[in-house]
Amino acid sequence: MSRPTVQPDDGILVVQNLTKRFGRAVVLEDISLAIEESKTTVVIGPSGCGKTVFLKHLIVLERPSEGKVFFRGQRIDHLDEKELAEIRTKFGFCFQMGALFDSLTVYENIAFPVRQHVKSMDEKTLDGLVKQKLALVGMDGYQQHYPAELSGGQRKRVALARAIALNPEVILYDEPTTGLDPITSDIINELILKLQKELKITSVAVTHDMKSAYKIADRIIMLYKGKIIADGDADYIRNHPSDLVQQFIQGKVGPAELAALRLGGTQAESQFSPDDFR
Ligand SMILES: Nc1ncnc2c1ncn2[C@@H]1O[C@H](COP(=O)(O)OP(=O)(O)OP(=O)(O)O)[C@@H](O)[C@H]1O
Ligand SMILES: [Mg+2]
Repeated sequence: MSRPTVQPDDGILVVQNLTKRFGRAVVLEDISLAIEESKTTVVIGPSGCGKTVFLKHLIVLERPSEGKVFFRGQRIDHLDEKELAEIRTKFGFCFQMGALFDSLTVYENIAFPVRQHVKSMDEKTLDGLVKQKLALVGMDGYQQHYPAELSGGQRKRVALARAIALNPEVILYDEPTTGLDPITSDIINELILKLQKELKITSVAVTHDMKSAYKIADRIIMLYKGKIIADGDADYIRNHPSDLVQQFIQGKVGPAELAALRLGGTQAESQFSPDDFR
């Protein structure tokens, strides 16, 4: 392990020499990073490069194999679940899967974390809080709907309202715009910008969507094979000299992958006949 290049107080969230292994697979390798308060940091990189695993370490939903994680200067990666539950109330998260509880109404989805963490809130105050959070994302009036009755974009907005229910200091987003059409994606981007501007929230967002990354990011970090290979603002990333970065941001397949795909194609042709798929 190399000497720490970041100190616990260098940012609101600090990751120091983080390595994560699953079995023999090294998913994150000696990553050090300080995340600045009130800014939006976007993590990009190809599918499977460890973006979600990285994000989970920030609230210790995964524990490091090596290295440390700090929140406001306090080490958090070795805390027990009870202590973590307290820390996590300062975070909102909008994760890739299962963002909303399908069996609960929009109202109950947003009230859920509040009921869990704030013991003494009367129903009228709670109604007001739910209304205010829904209004922030343009969804006031949908309180009695179930998630199944909403579009994908509306569900993401409700998930966002729930993420801010406890007035978090940090929001973690995993693929906030994936699966949405360009206009709905842009609405989500605008909401992320609005939360950052109006509430001065610190955001960390993981995405493959470069349009979204350029729009919301103060800083973009590219992960590749477990390491940070680029780190800078949107212009820096746009003009990055590395072929790997350019291939990724322009959505092009690299020469090595292309060769492998072409080889795979010829083999596949000889291995299968159309009847195999009937
Ligand atoms: N709990 C786990 N156990 C074993 N391997 C895991 C676990 N979670 C993730 N991995 C592996 O870690 C690697 C990184 O996964 P991760 O979900 O972070 O990728 P990602 O960059 O978020 O990809 P995508 O863009 O497709 O969401 C993958 O190879 C994945 O299979
Ligand atoms: Mg992911």
